[in-house]
Amino acid sequence: MNDTIASIQSTLLEQVATSNEPREVLKSNEIKKLYAAIPSLEPAERGAYGKAVNELKLALEAAVSAREAELEDGSVVALDVTAPWDSNTGPVSLLPATQGSIHPLMREITVLSDIFARMGFTTEESREIDDQEHMFEVLNFPKGHPARDDYDTFMTVEVDSNGEPLIAPAHTSTMQNRVLQKYKSNLENNEPIAVVVPDRVFRNEDLDARHEHTFYQIEGVYVAKKVHAGMLVATLQKFLEEYYGKALEVRVNPFYFPFTEPSFEFALSCPFCEGKNPTCKVCGGEGWIELLGCGMIHPNVLKAADIDPSVYTGFAFGCGVDRLVMMKYGIEDVRHFESGKLDFLRQF
Ligand code: PHE
Repeated sequence: MNDTIASIQSTLLEQVATSNEPREVLKSNEIKKLYAAIPSLEPAERGAYGKAVNELKLALEAAVSAREAELEDGSVVALDVTAPWDSNTGPVSLLPATQGSIHPLMREITVLSDIFARMGFTTEESREIDDQEHMFEVLNFPKGHPARDDYDTFMTVEVDSNGEPLIAPAHTSTMQNRVLQKYKSNLENNEPIAVVVPDRVFRNEDLDARHEHTFYQIEGVYVAKKVHAGMLVATLQKFLEEYYGKALEVRVNPFYFPFTEPSFEFALSCPFCEGKNPTCKVCGGEGWIELLGCGMIHPNVLKAADIDPSVYTGFAFGCGVDRLVMMKYGIEDVRHFESGKLDFLRQF
């Protein structure tokens, strides 16, 4: 395996050294194939393999920068005279770039947004402190609604202009009303509202290998004329098949959320064992994994954004990003993501 990586590396380095567009080499299929092979590896092999592929990427990036500098000014790499200097070895980098990397969840969120972008969805960011209006009211949870207790929200001592404590959003659905408002002029132009919101959410719950107080969700909102539940299922299935790079079966069961009607719980066939391994650690041998909540946007949620539910319908979904990524790479404990453990992070 490492031999293959080494030989791909030397071929690509050679291409970089002679190319007039060296950055194009970073997009080569060889590299994509190396990353795509990760899910099919035995979990024990993945760490070392991932590290080798990352090292190849770093070596290539360094070569690309050098080649670009060479093309730009004929050969001399510009020197930063203010940088720390060692009289024996030359420039000293205080924090070598090779020791930092993008957090695995951030990298995967880019992959997810990219899949949705190709399906016509725009990406918006959420926020890390919000009000009860967006967490509950505009989502059709009136005051005193029992489902408010389903969300173990963190609240602040500080209050908003209504005298209510602020909250750390417990789901990305807090953004639904904002994106409906922001993009509702699309509907007048006969274009759909199609937005995804990947971001951080917080819940005050007991921590274990599957529960973390801080995690990520990706929310989807789609509104147009004649949108139906089949479109919701097809969109999610296609998205998951793209992400896992294989055909998957999906299962939809009725569920309850105040802001969707009907609401569903969406499960997919285990991308690890496809239901063939009764002792599979990912699905517990069931062959199915409950992945996300979704449904047809409740008319009251559309009305709260001044969209006429008798003309327009839509779907929404909220999917846990950590769990998607854990399944892709065989990560057994969600707490690794926020742990700051370098031996975990360096595997990506
Ligand atoms: N916000 C819900 C949750 O976190 C998921 C969801 C989003 C359900 C959108 C329906 C529509 O539990």
